[in-house]
Amino acid sequence: MRLKINPRVIEQLGKELITSDEIAIVELIKNSYDAGAKKTNIHFIDNKFSFYFQNMLIDVDQELKYAVMKDLKDACIIIEDNGHGMGLNELQEGFFTIGTTIKKLQKQNISNNDRAPLGDKGIGRLAAQRLSKRLYIETTNDESNHTYLVSVEWESFIYNEKYSELDIDVSTFPKTAKSYTRLWFTDLNLNLDSLIDLKKAKELMDDGDSTNIGTNIIRDNLQSALGFLMSPFKNLKEEFSINLYYRNFPVPSSSGINLINVAENEYAFKIEEKDGEINITCGLVIKPWYIERIHQTLIGKESSLEIRKSHLFYASLLKQHKDRFNKSLKSIVSQKTLIKELKRMNPNHNLLHENAATMLLDIVPIEAKIYSFKRDPKISASAIESAKENGYLKNINLNTTNLRSFLEYHNGIKLYRGNCRVSTLGDKDNDWLQLQQARTRGQQFFRFELGNTIGYININDPLQSYIKEISSRQDLIQNEHSFILKEVIKLILNKYFYEFSRNAYYITQDILKEEGLVPRRSIDTLKEEIKNNQKVVQDNRDDLKHFDQNLKKINEYFSKAEVDDDVRKAFGSLQDTSVNLKRNIEYTLTSTEKTNRALERVEQERKIIELETYNNYKLMANGLITEVITHELHSILSNLDSEDKTNYHFENIENHLLINDADDIYTEDFKPLKSRFNLINSKMLDMNQFYTFLERTFLYKGTHEDFETQDVFGFLEDLEKRFEKKLKKYKINLDYSKIDLNWKVPRGALIHVFYNLIDNAIFWVNQRQIKSRTDKSYSIDERDSIVIDQVGENMILIKDSGIGVFKRVENILFHPLVSGKDRNGRGMGLYIVKKLLNSFGADIELLPDRNRFGNKYIFSIILRNDLEEGDDSE
Ligand SMILES: Nc1ncnc2c1ncn2[C@@H]1O[C@H](COP(=O)(O)OP(=O)(O)OP(=O)(O)O)[C@@H](O)[C@H]1O
Ligand SMILES: [Mg+2]
Repeated sequence: MRLKINPRVIEQLGKELITSDEIAIVELIKNSYDAGAKKTNIHFIDNKFSFYFQNMLIDVDQELKYAVMKDLKDACIIIEDNGHGMGLNELQEGFFTIGTTIKKLQKQNISNNDRAPLGDKGIGRLAAQRLSKRLYIETTNDESNHTYLVSVEWESFIYNEKYSELDIDVSTFPKTAKSYTRLWFTDLNLNLDSLIDLKKAKELMDDGDSTNIGTNIIRDNLQSALGFLMSPFKNLKEEFSINLYYRNFPVPSSSGINLINVAENEYAFKIEEKDGEINITCGLVIKPWYIERIHQTLIGKESSLEIRKSHLFYASLLKQHKDRFNKSLKSIVSQKTLIKELKRMNPNHNLLHENAATMLLDIVPIEAKIYSFKRDPKISASAIESAKENGYLKNINLNTTNLRSFLEYHNGIKLYRGNCRVSTLGDKDNDWLQLQQARTRGQQFFRFELGNTIGYININDPLQSYIKEISSRQDLIQNEHSFILKEVIKLILNKYFYEFSRNAYYITQDILKEEGLVPRRSIDTLKEEIKNNQKVVQDNRDDLKHFDQNLKKINEYFSKAEVDDDVRKAFGSLQDTSVNLKRNIEYTLTSTEKTNRALERVEQERKIIELETYNNYKLMANGLITEVITHELHSILSNLDSEDKTNYHFENIENHLLINDADDIYTEDFKPLKSRFNLINSKMLDMNQFYTFLERTFLYKGTHEDFETQDVFGFLEDLEKRFEKKLKKYKINLDYSKIDLNWKVPRGALIHVFYNLIDNAIFWVNQRQIKSRTDKSYSIDERDSIVIDQVGENMILIKDSGIGVFKRVENILFHPLVSGKDRNGRGMGLYIVKKLLNSFGADIELLPDRNRFGNKYIFSIILRNDLEEGDDSE
């Protein structure tokens, strides 16, 4: 017996394990890095006739060029590096040995100045199969006198019968450089357009802008895989650059690392060893434009003009209060506290947590920085401006569009070993630290928003002794080290950083208030003024009283004494003045009283508004909770066993009971249990359907600008599916065949509106059906129906064959907490629908027409109150 290995595993390893083209390219770049290269050039060529071998890193020998190009189809990819290359021996033992241990051996005698190899498993290059059917390896090293060219045609390799002896032809050519490797991918498996935007690239070529393709034409996936592959966060001592070319011309890649300086918050932590124990320092640094933003939100729109300060002002404010911030935005965590907190955070793994320090000591120092941004155009424009003015951003050409794409490509918290990223962690959509999950707890406001966060975590494990990626490069191998690493990072992010950002907010708020930068609400100031005023007038009145008394006394004295006419005259006018003064003061007093009363009314109004706002917030809060709950339900459902599986379990138990003659248990316990379970299960599945449906209405950062044009008919068609069961159960026709409209409404709005209306209609139709059983005046001959019709382009009517709206509620139908339903109606549905429609200029009304039961029954939905004629002509 002997162990045979079918070369088909090569295909498994390369094509199927590495699941994306961009990861395949990254693998080949990593090999160049391992070969000590200073440069890697990647060429994308969509048409071999327009490729003139410009910008080649290494000259191409004419003969060799011919040998490769002769059977070249139109498109190809070339990856070349100026590393140490391979001789015959390295080709054999390295490239052509699957699972080669060449790099493992290399690591054993590595010196401090060498690059620690990124390679480990000996399978990375097999990913080349994803890219093309044929691969040419062109390489040479210092010791070789020739350049070697090897052609690999993967299929003939893999499907070879005599797999123990695969001969590979090596041809030789004159050397054009001392050492290098160049991979030619011909007969591509992929469409180049999936890596670069060919259409845009060609357009740019046609514009004659061929010397430098100024616009970014790299596709998102490739961009985010290559971007930050080598850590841009540290000042690299070593030189290693990746350059992309389309046809003959350089393609700029938008790493734009400078923009990192526009972050409004910079979180950092360092885990290190101190006297044999783990010690963590963490902190938050805020930028002037953070304070500015908080200020803006505090003062609101109206007063912003007069109180708004310059960007420089906020910088000096920050400087002035530096110590105060520092005190609350820094923490040192000892090993003891760390373990205590880990256990508290996740009590299921106490044993592992007990060993956390030992694990961490293997991979310290661990350093991290996490930058958080705001993407809103206005806020980010202001941030960029401030960053420029305050000297944080040197490049004055950068703008919000740059920032937006910077975040788009590079968001995520990435893990680095030395200078290179470990697998694809923290790439777009790879939420390995479950930040999103954490956001549903506590105040979202103070948590990381995935898409607006860029960060790195750097571990010290140069030889990959503890932290390794899995073969598909999409996650870490699960072991105690990687588990603890993730736990500790999550702890720091979700506890300490959360606290910092909360503290930063409240301190900023306090400082702004203390500095008198936040106006007190104007109504309070007014009240205070009036009160002061009243007091002054009151005092005056008291004084006047004294004055009057004195005047009287003088008068009495004058009447007895001999006085000059002049003096008597003067005294008389004094008396007149006093009377006037008294009148004036009385007048002032009554008018302030009036003002006071008016003010009270204003206050009353405000309370009503506040109450309304409060109610709205309550609704919003309900929405949030619904979102969380449905999310949770969904995750329960996705983890639920399939129906087949549970049925299988049930069958087994059933058989067991019946075989063992346990009839009693079968009928009394088992059967009810099973039917109850099935009921719950089917309800859950309904719920799941509902969730996917509802999910679309969750507005993330929804604004009224989120309008989208909806095909109302198509929408109703979809919605009908949601009601299918109910409609069938109550035998109701839903007819919307006349609808032919495209409405521009905020995302999710139609769902709320129609869901409510149809749900109501079904309810009232059913009520009619129930009543008709005992009261024939409620029976109808035709089949029940809900009809949705349109009137022109801007109005939809919806009516049903149900009872209609009870007279007692017809005038207050759209008020909150009004429901015609006896017990179970919350009475919020139509209120919300109306408010929602109003919020974007639309409206709903109950038309005056009455049905055969004497009730109003037709609802009209009007898209816009103020039909703007101009809209169409624009
Ligand atoms: N650009 C290159 N320059 C020099 N040698 C190379 C180059 N690319 C590949 N090799 C050789 O081919 C071998 C196989 O590469 P491969 O990427 O499959 O495995 P690895 O890098 O050793 O490990 P890993 O699977 O973790 O990447 C390498 O060990 C190296 O000896
Ligand atoms: Mg490799």
